[in-house]
Amino acid sequence: MDASDLNQALKETESLEAWVASVRQFFESYELFYGHGTENPLDEAHWLVEAVNRYNPERPNISIASKRDVVFNIALKRVGERRPLAYLLNEAWFAGLSFYVDERVLIPRSPLAELIERQFAPWTCLEPGHRVLEIGTGSGCIAVAIAHHCPGVLVDATDISNQALDVAAINAKGWEEQVKIIESDLFSAINGQYQIIVSNPPYVAHDRLVELPMEYQHEPSLALEGGTDGLNIVNRLLPLAAEYLTPDGLLFLEVGETQQVFDSSHIRLPATWLEFDRGGEGVAVLTREELTGYLAD
Ligand SMILES: C[S@@+](CC[C@H](N)C(=O)[O-])C[C@H]1O[C@@H](n2cnc3c(N)ncnc32)[C@H](O)[C@@H]1O
Repeated sequence: MDASDLNQALKETESLEAWVASVRQFFESYELFYGHGTENPLDEAHWLVEAVNRYNPERPNISIASKRDVVFNIALKRVGERRPLAYLLNEAWFAGLSFYVDERVLIPRSPLAELIERQFAPWTCLEPGHRVLEIGTGSGCIAVAIAHHCPGVLVDATDISNQALDVAAINAKGWEEQVKIIESDLFSAINGQYQIIVSNPPYVAHDRLVELPMEYQHEPSLALEGGTDGLNIVNRLLPLAAEYLTPDGLLFLEVGETQQVFDSSHIRLPATWLEFDRGGEGVAVLTREELTGYLAD
């Protein structure tokens, strides 16, 4: 199906189901990569049509013809520019919550969402007033999701990127009592100790980054690239983390597909790798004791 076929198909009906079917067929005609919020062309088409048709208080009386134009134009951009739909819609979903996103931040997709929805059970029991530090907050999705799912917990959300922090501030609006946005290169602006440190740092090896589908090239390289073996940031973070954890504190560290490289670089580190019901891999949990023991070796 090409663009004029799609245009024609959308004009033939006002049925949203039919629009979804046509957009799906259009997406299927091109080699798109899914994985920035959806996994397949049907879900992607559904998301697009649903988002455009969702009630928008800023445009309460938008006509069906205008909606059709918006669906058509976004579908064209998705195919023509290979831009992830999340950026075209300026929204992403994480841990059941909607977030504003644009090209200044990585599109949320960390498996950590599942852990946060479970309030980090069974690993720890967070109580109001407990402190969590997030390193590399990007859109702020992890920090805000923790504030939402763990009532009263205080989250310091850090990033080295000013641009990312501007987006995090948008998403943390209304959560100011629980979420503090801090510009910091890892722990450089951090004081005190936390029950949890959580981080989904950049961990893609340089050579791997250039091989990734075009959709990834729209994301900030600062959010993805972890140097030659992917572990640049991780290797700086690991030796510092224990100092910022309470005696019973835990580090949750995502290294994704770099897990094997991580394991072979840190053979004696007793990392426990988490399993997720909804998929995803490469998230380690480490106690403060395990970290200090490893550093003392
Ligand atoms: C993979 S993204 C994660 C974003 C978000 N936490 C998420 O899970 O969707 C990594 C983030 O780490 C930030 N970052 C990179 N180097 C950093 C550093 N030295 N100190 C703090 N943050 C850093 C990037 O700007 C980016 O926002």
